Amino acid sequence: MDDRELMRMANEAREGAYVPYSGFKVGAALLCADGTVFTGVNIENAAYGPSVCAERTAFFKAISEGYRDFVKIAVTCDHEYCQPCGVCRQVMIEHAPDLEILMGNLQGEFRRTTIRELLPEAFETI
Ligand code: THU
Repeated sequence: MDDRELMRMANEAREGAYVPYSGFKVGAALLCADGTVFTGVNIENAAYGPSVCAERTAFFKAISEGYRDFVKIAVTCDHEYCQPCGVCRQVMIEHAPDLEILMGNLQGEFRRTTIRELLPEAFETI
């Protein structure tokens, strides 16, 4: 899977974000080791607290379908580059400690990083 294609899938998924409160759409595309891609969007809620980010939607879809091996995630929003929030970083390191992250934008440009770089000295128990 080409990086630009993964970013394109994240941007395409982003259109389906459910964001009646913030109006801020985020999209993600998670690449599994076998080449399968799970997309995700942010899904907000009237009570705010139950809202979920695009990255976690993608991870939870994949995990609930039995996938455990993750290579890379593309994340995109209307920023210069879209950086995953702290909660998503904690979820990423739990399920994919070697994850590569493409922080992208609506033009399809991206910066490359890793979860280890974004969350050094993470809390881990296993
Ligand atoms: N959001 C994400 O989907 N991913 C992030 O990493 C940061 C924030 C969402 C949550 C909320 O629906 C909107 O962006 C504004 O904060």
